[in-house]
Amino acid sequence: MYEGLLKQYKDYLPITDKTPMISLAEGNTPLIPLHRLSKELGINLYGKYEGLNPTGSFKDRGMVMAVAKAVEEGAKAIVCASTGNTSAAAAAYATRAGVKAYVVIPDGKIAMGKLAQAIIYGADIISIPGNFDEALKAVRDIAKTEAVALVNSVNPYRLEGQKTAAFEVCEQLGQAPDVLAIPVGNAGNISAYWKGFKEWHDKKGTDLPRMHGFEAEGAAAIVKGEVIEQPETIATAIRIGNPASWKLAEAARDESKGHIDSVTDEEILNAYRKVAAQDGVFVEPGSAASLAGVIQHVKSGKIKPGETVVAVFTGNGLKDPDTAINATDVEISKMSDLEEMRMHLRNGVSEL
Ligand code: F0G
Repeated sequence: MYEGLLKQYKDYLPITDKTPMISLAEGNTPLIPLHRLSKELGINLYGKYEGLNPTGSFKDRGMVMAVAKAVEEGAKAIVCASTGNTSAAAAAYATRAGVKAYVVIPDGKIAMGKLAQAIIYGADIISIPGNFDEALKAVRDIAKTEAVALVNSVNPYRLEGQKTAAFEVCEQLGQAPDVLAIPVGNAGNISAYWKGFKEWHDKKGTDLPRMHGFEAEGAAAIVKGEVIEQPETIATAIRIGNPASWKLAEAARDESKGHIDSVTDEEILNAYRKVAAQDGVFVEPGSAASLAGVIQHVKSGKIKPGETVVAVFTGNGLKDPDTAINATDVEISKMSDLEEMRMHLRNGVSEL
């Protein structure tokens, strides 16, 4: 039986005899070949579907490790700032480990599914008028004076847990891809993947991919080389103007001979609709930044024909139903008459 990341990758993680082996069976997510997009783009494209983690995002990988270590070190409570997914994962793993979770979120800028999760898992939810960067600053200060463990990705155990996704990609492909495309918000995940690829390379002899990270244009601090005071994007998950792992992300980019570029909200929405409608994978808007970037880089030549590319789909589309409904103009036909339905289908099918 698969029992989660701490057991699966025990030898590669900072686990001691005293680490509680908590688990929601996180990790072990599918690497889905994207046949139609591959054909259209002329590459071998896969989606690492992190939306199938227990709370619907990659955050579970880092959170299981960070919460286990916090408990090992005697914490009774954890705290985080979040654009939504971190708070959902923190709330779930705190419950699992029997500690309390305090989560700080930007008022009105969090997708409904994520808020619902924090509520139902039983977190203490604090909403602030500022953005994620301000929330992170606040919790970093508070964690210095109060008896709470900070579980944002500035906590190194988070990146340790998250690096396991790179291990899985190498195991699933039997090799590292040529390119790993990934959304960049606070820049923890791109840093964690790169660490994971390097460790697997050292231990298992796999190659190293080029790391291609993508920020949303309205929140592209690393691309522009300056803090964005008022970040804005439809992809609220990555609405971050001062990434905490900025330097690590640049190192991942440079060491791997990769790129960090930006994608517009329009490119994000286009990729978001496309991967659902063409290949049947529903991701959240922030996650679609990776695919938007792949499309952009195939056009610009930064990704070459025939290359093997893994796009990380960091979160599940169900997290943000409002964007899905507003991003499409699909008509819902209202009918209560069976004959009307029959004719509707008959006409539709005859056109196929
Ligand atoms: N994709 C999703 C769905 C996310 O929720 C996040 C970050 C990212 C990508 C970016 O990852 O920050 O490691 O570069 N979400 C954080 C949160 C900030 O609070 O849930 P990153």
